[in-house]
Amino acid sequence: MKYDVKNIKLAEKGLKRIKWAAKEMPVLRFIAKQFKQNKTLKKIIIGACLHITAETANLMLTLKEGGAKVFLCASNPLSTQDDVAAALVHYFKIPVFAKRGENRKTFFTHLNLVLDSRPQIVIDDGADLIGLLHTVRANQNKTIWGGCEETTTGVNRLKSLNKSGKLQFPIVAVNDSQIKYLFDNRYGTGQSTIDGIIRATNILIAGKKFVVAGYGWVGRGIAARARGMGAEVIITEINPIRALEARMDGFAVMTMEVATLIGDIFVTATGNRNVIDNRHFVKMKNGAILANAGHFNVEIDVKNLETLKGKKEEARTGVKSYQVAKDKQVYLIGEGRLVNLAAAEGHPSAVMDLSFAGQAKSVEFIVKNKRKLKKQIYNLPFEVESEIAQIKLDSVGIKIDKLTAQQKEYMSGWETGT
Ligand SMILES: NC(=O)c1ccc[n+]([C@@H]2O[C@H](COP(=O)([O-])OP(=O)(O)OC[C@H]3O[C@@H](n4cnc5c(N)ncnc54)[C@H](O)[C@@H]3O)[C@@H](O)[C@H]2O)c1
Repeated sequence: MKYDVKNIKLAEKGLKRIKWAAKEMPVLRFIAKQFKQNKTLKKIIIGACLHITAETANLMLTLKEGGAKVFLCASNPLSTQDDVAAALVHYFKIPVFAKRGENRKTFFTHLNLVLDSRPQIVIDDGADLIGLLHTVRANQNKTIWGGCEETTTGVNRLKSLNKSGKLQFPIVAVNDSQIKYLFDNRYGTGQSTIDGIIRATNILIAGKKFVVAGYGWVGRGIAARARGMGAEVIITEINPIRALEARMDGFAVMTMEVATLIGDIFVTATGNRNVIDNRHFVKMKNGAILANAGHFNVEIDVKNLETLKGKKEEARTGVKSYQVAKDKQVYLIGEGRLVNLAAAEGHPSAVMDLSFAGQAKSVEFIVKNKRKLKKQIYNLPFEVESEIAQIKLDSVGIKIDKLTAQQKEYMSGWETGT
């Protein structure tokens, strides 16, 4: 079996991690049972490009239970858990092509190795794999039944591809389901971003001025958690409605230019580029900490930081200091890559249980509807989302009310008014 991982001897440690994560993933376990019983994915080849974490391993095992052959590479050069990658190869015979810290060339070699398996379905996080299937490997896209996309940035890229009329196969926008963004983007990134900052710096959050750029699902989660730890949270936005929402949620709202002068910790969560760049670096307070939670490492202009003439050095593991002016340093965590994966372990398993249940069900949706689907972007059907939420509620013993016949009639009629 062909694979490329950092050290296969890490497999035992990785297995423990996969089992630990599984305890918090009851929905995925339920789906694995369904898939196994119905042989849902028999002999289907799936190519996946995801952050290689213990939770992703559980998704891969779920797909395998259903009869699929899965091939896996990393969706970010700095997010791979090498022990998990080794465990997937050693214990489960799943070909993995990923090494934490791989360079850009190796990153794309690994994506290509996954596509060499000639998958019928692709799972992506950020749309790099699907991007290849629309450029250098476009000759392969006729054999693809469909793809599933995990994150906001990936979905945005694919919507743009679709708008230009160039999308070559159906896509399920897993990110756009409530079961994903309400929990993963908000609570998952909210907690794990703070976790990454703390692990990297051991800084006290209480009393700090904590600037969050972007008040979308991710930004809301980070802001709420930072406030919970006693920070004074400042939001920057470009969307007036989101800015107003942030204000009414009780946060200070201002431009990045002004926030730059007072912030202690800065986190970007916009899906946009150069949100913090050389307009800001030199004006920051000495010791400011910078981190990115958005998908790509373009939100903080790291390239520009690197070209500055001042001293640069590793201040702590995963934290680099840049001298941006005389007697002034700023600290960048995890090379400006998503801090929750670069400096911590990514989202807690209980949240990835929902996101990956969405992924597994999206794969099933593509298999069941492959002849009917068009070259467009689909959302996960609402019934499927509700089913996933119901399984999660059942797993924690929470019961909810049911509509009575009278209520159903009332809710679907127009006759009853004042
Ligand atoms: N780190 C993770 O594990 C993780 C998890 C989920 C999503 N993401 C990524 O996080 C990013 C944000 O996702 P989301 O779901 O919150 O998206 P979203 O679209 O809900 O929110 C993004 C917000 O950023 C704002 N924005 C855009 N440009 C800005 C700028 N220059 N300055 C200030 N605000 C700006 C937008 O107006 C919007 O409100 C995406 O790149 C997504 O892929 C990361």
